[in-house]
Amino acid sequence: MTSPASDHSTDHGADDLTAPLLDPTFYAGDPFSLYARLRAEAPVTRNPTLGFWVASRHAEVTAISRDPDTFCSGKGVMVFEIGSEYPTPPSIMHTDPPDHTRYRALVQPGFRPPFIRGLEDGVRARARTLVDRLEPGVPVDVVSELAVPLPLQVISDLLGVPESEWPRLFRWSEAVIPGATDWPEEERQALSAEMVNYLLAAAADRRLSPGDDIISELAAAEIEGERLSDAELAMFLVQLLVAGNETTRNMMSGGLVGFAETPGEWGALRTRVAGSAPRALAIAVEEMLRWTTPVVSFMRTATRDTILGDQQISGGDPVLMLYASANRDEEVFGSTGERFDAARDPNPHLAFGFGAHFCIGAALARLEGRVVLEELLARFGSVESAGPVMRTASPVIAGVRSAPLVFGAATP
Ligand code: HEM
Repeated sequence: MTSPASDHSTDHGADDLTAPLLDPTFYAGDPFSLYARLRAEAPVTRNPTLGFWVASRHAEVTAISRDPDTFCSGKGVMVFEIGSEYPTPPSIMHTDPPDHTRYRALVQPGFRPPFIRGLEDGVRARARTLVDRLEPGVPVDVVSELAVPLPLQVISDLLGVPESEWPRLFRWSEAVIPGATDWPEEERQALSAEMVNYLLAAAADRRLSPGDDIISELAAAEIEGERLSDAELAMFLVQLLVAGNETTRNMMSGGLVGFAETPGEWGALRTRVAGSAPRALAIAVEEMLRWTTPVVSFMRTATRDTILGDQQISGGDPVLMLYASANRDEEVFGSTGERFDAARDPNPHLAFGFGAHFCIGAALARLEGRVVLEELLARFGSVESAGPVMRTASPVIAGVRSAPLVFGAATP
């Protein structure tokens, strides 16, 4: 699966800087000082071991994302896929125009803004039940108590999956993320297969008797007489389950850690929100997204020779877009890019990607972030660290395994 894409005889002098990117444990520590060096010393540079380029600045990540003709997704979107040739795309993320355009047209209606807005009451009810269990002054792991269950429950409601299936759903979504768990490969494979079978059966069932859920919506979606095939539908549902859980989870846990580690931010946001500035909440969610950047990076493959930054890229070369670095680029976020600033505005982060593949679930993730923040702010006057934060050793998902925090009572 992993073969160098092309033979470059002249490596950039700073290429060694990219070596840690191949080590999953690097991501469980503090990767940001290396990202800063990459941006400063080698903003477009090639990893000599696997032959992929690394783009660490906002400008190049944006340029790659807006040009799918030159930088395609069909040959893999993650480093472990380098060298892959797929007979059929394993996900919508692995498609390019015109197939990608067709998929987007078919699935986008399921995510249209009125539909997402209509989910707010349900999301709030789920969030309230979880937040009501937290007590002021009592340390809590916000990962297991809040960040894991909420997105899982919301996506289950969306898919029409009953509560009895939540534990299975959770294991499935964990199994498909590289590095999210230390489960044996065979177990992960078996769980993935089980998930696909379950979703295929659910799709077949909803085609026969549609309900008020997204599976039914997608099963019935039609463009010029064309529908998603069963295999495409299952592929898309897998994607929703995975993308809707892991990422949103880490936006919440990572964002709350940002508040806990940055004194004054929680109180200042409470004051802005109390001063009836609802936009303050939305702005804070954007900073939770930027500062955490739940998806560390995605990859593209050059379809032809091209120039990126000051480097000559050859057709066939994989190029990694380091969102986590681009989101701290001093050219865009100034000298405070490393700081968590819940009032940062404007905030042109790339946490949801950019261009044709821009995250379909962005509005849903933002809704969940806003609602959970609002419910927490209404009850608690402060949030502080109550122990070390444990991070996931994954090159794809900036995961928080546990984050002990303590919320303080709100004083009237
Ligand atoms: C904080 C939460 C989230 C983050 C940070 C996030 C991040 C991303 C990113 C970076 C991409 C771009 C992929 C690319 O360019 O190759 C993407 C695409 C996608 N996301 Fe999300 N996502 C989040 C939540 C969700 C949710 C809640 C859903 C669905 C329920 C979702 C579904 C998708 C899908 C289907 C795509 C593929 C779009 C395409 O290829 O056209 N995401 N997401």
